[in-house]
Amino acid sequence: MKKTIQYVIMLTVGLMATSCYYDTMPPEPVVPLPDVVSYSEDVQPLWNESCIGCHKSGGTAPDLTAANSYSALTANNKYVVPGNAAGSKLHKSLMGDGAALMPPGGKWSDSKIAIVDKWINDGALNN
Ligand code: HEC
Repeated sequence: MKKTIQYVIMLTVGLMATSCYYDTMPPEPVVPLPDVVSYSEDVQPLWNESCIGCHKSGGTAPDLTAANSYSALTANNKYVVPGNAAGSKLHKSLMGDGAALMPPGGKWSDSKIAIVDKWINDGALNN
């Protein structure tokens, strides 16, 4: 009898321990927003991390590799309108709103998008 009770307790504990799962993925950690966003130090690393697999030289436009990304994004205000993130195709792509969602695999956290938006709204400097 004692053995049976022990068995039932162990089974219950075991089931409880394995029944926890995430319905959704845990949120990405919040990336702090710098006072002054640097294109080379804060923005380019984001492209390196999640964009240049496709947006490389000779790949899909815009070319987001370090040597070419700034001019590719800002030439003729095609992707970036300095001072106007909301009106920039780059922002629309990151939001998946008015352009195909980038990166296609899944939307970035708000805190990462905020870094790009601040860089654009602060004048899209090559700093
Ligand atoms: C898996 C490959 C892939 C990755 C990763 C990727 N892109 Fe793209 N991107 C594409 C393709 C393909 C297109 C063009 C076709 C389309 O509209 O879907 C595109 C188009 C774009 C455009 C132009 C949109 C337009 O309508 O002209 C921008 C801006 C862009 N991507 C930015 C990014 C940024 C920023 C990242 C990283 C956060 C990124 N992409 C990651 C494949 C990718």
